[in-house]
Amino acid sequence: MNLILLGLPGAGKGTQASRITETYGIPHISTGDMFRAAMKNETPLGKEAKKFIDAGDLVPDEVTNGIVKERLEEADAQNGFLLDGYPRTLNQADALKKALSSSGRTLDNVLYIKVDREILMERLTGRFICSNCGATYHKLFNSTKVEGTCDQCGGHDFYQREDDKPETVERRIEVNEAQTKELAAYYEEEGIVREINGEQDPDSVFDDIRNILK
Ligand code: AP5
Ligand code: ZN
Repeated sequence: MNLILLGLPGAGKGTQASRITETYGIPHISTGDMFRAAMKNETPLGKEAKKFIDAGDLVPDEVTNGIVKERLEEADAQNGFLLDGYPRTLNQADALKKALSSSGRTLDNVLYIKVDREILMERLTGRFICSNCGATYHKLFNSTKVEGTCDQCGGHDFYQREDDKPETVERRIEVNEAQTKELAAYYEEEGIVREINGEQDPDSVFDDIRNILK
């Protein structure tokens, strides 16, 4: 199963990605996570990406296309993958098509999670993440079952993403809005887009995804 999760920042891509990879056993390939890991380790890639990410802008296509192509060549991605946050531009969609066709692969589904802009602002500014395992929560909509304790790993330490400050969130949504629509239209032509109402609670969103992938 070769899948793409498409949706604006805060639509719930990461939240659904962890459910999808757990249920279907395919690797989760998130360009955002790859950049954040590189930034944390202060690698050359991380230093380059940081300039763009902190401003809420996109990392240049040539950088992003290179890291995804390499990742898709790894052994665990040969029998399926879930791309999250990639492609984000038409140039990236073309690069992906080339990378896949060079190894005889195609895409099965583009899961397009749709959420209204007002809701996205609230979701991103209230997001918090477990420092130990990376599980994502929201202070109002999707909190831990026990206050201050991660449901997944029992950890007690949480952080907020640098780019979840209100000013940056607004910029991120703006930067991504037109391109997300273009990408949806691009894959619509291939007949592989499935729209999902992302305004439901996370479990209901996942029920819809499961029905699509049945
Ligand atoms: P990236 O990490 O991909 O961030 P993003 O697209 O902005 O998406 P997010 O991770 O912020 O949101 P999400 O949709 O995963 O939502 P989540 O599940 O966490 O990219 C970061 C940056 O890296 C970019 O800005 C760019 O600079 C760069 N980058 C990455 N990929 C790139 C590329 N391909 N090209 C160029 N640059 C790239 O949910 C959000 C919140 O809502 C959480 O608090 C969650 O608990 C809550 N929530 C989730 N679902 C629900 C629900 N159904 N109901 C209520 N609350 C919910
Ligand atoms: Zn945790």
